[in-house]
Amino acid sequence: MSLSTEIKDYEQLLRQNKEWAQRVTEQDPHFFERLTNVQKPKYLWIGCSDSRVPPDRITGTQPGEIFIHRNIANMVVDTDLNLLSVLEYAVNVLSVEHVIVCGHYGCGGVKAAMENKTAGLINKWLINIKDAYRHNREELDAITDAKKKLDKLIEVNIREQLFNLTKTSIIQKSWREKKSPHLHGWVYDVADGLINPICDIPAGSEIDPIYRYVDI
Ligand code: CO
Repeated sequence: MSLSTEIKDYEQLLRQNKEWAQRVTEQDPHFFERLTNVQKPKYLWIGCSDSRVPPDRITGTQPGEIFIHRNIANMVVDTDLNLLSVLEYAVNVLSVEHVIVCGHYGCGGVKAAMENKTAGLINKWLINIKDAYRHNREELDAITDAKKKLDKLIEVNIREQLFNLTKTSIIQKSWREKKSPHLHGWVYDVADGLINPICDIPAGSEIDPIYRYVDI
């Protein structure tokens, strides 16, 4: 691709932005004014960075409705300062009512984690998915079809990441003090645009004793 074509593509986004802002203002003259000074989203979305899974588009939500964190394979890693900062702000300051961890079928990150090739720095990230496999090895090893196995690991990974949220002092403290937020695990299907709800952990659920904090 030549440089001039790249600049053209990039400028196209700015043109489309102007058109979008104009269209929204025409339909709702006070739309941007309402959003200027306050954001009060009900939802925190932890999703995959995959370009085919835009949270607001697939849920029919508008700017201001979802607080969003995305990373490769929608992981909740308890040493990830970025994720923890987003979670703390969403839970303690924005008081979101629901945290949604949403994966997607055909996730390249999860697929790479099932392989044995090194992939640079990303190994260190994907190793968390390998852990999810190990924790559910019996169920996964029983599946012989490669695609079905990948789909199952993607679902299992959602369960694991939802569980990882319950391990954080942020969620435990909020459950104790506010009985909020509820946790939801979903998997989006790029092939038909539909979300498959996998599991829920209501606020205030029992915390696994080994992870439970009693002094927060
Ligand atoms: Co993905």
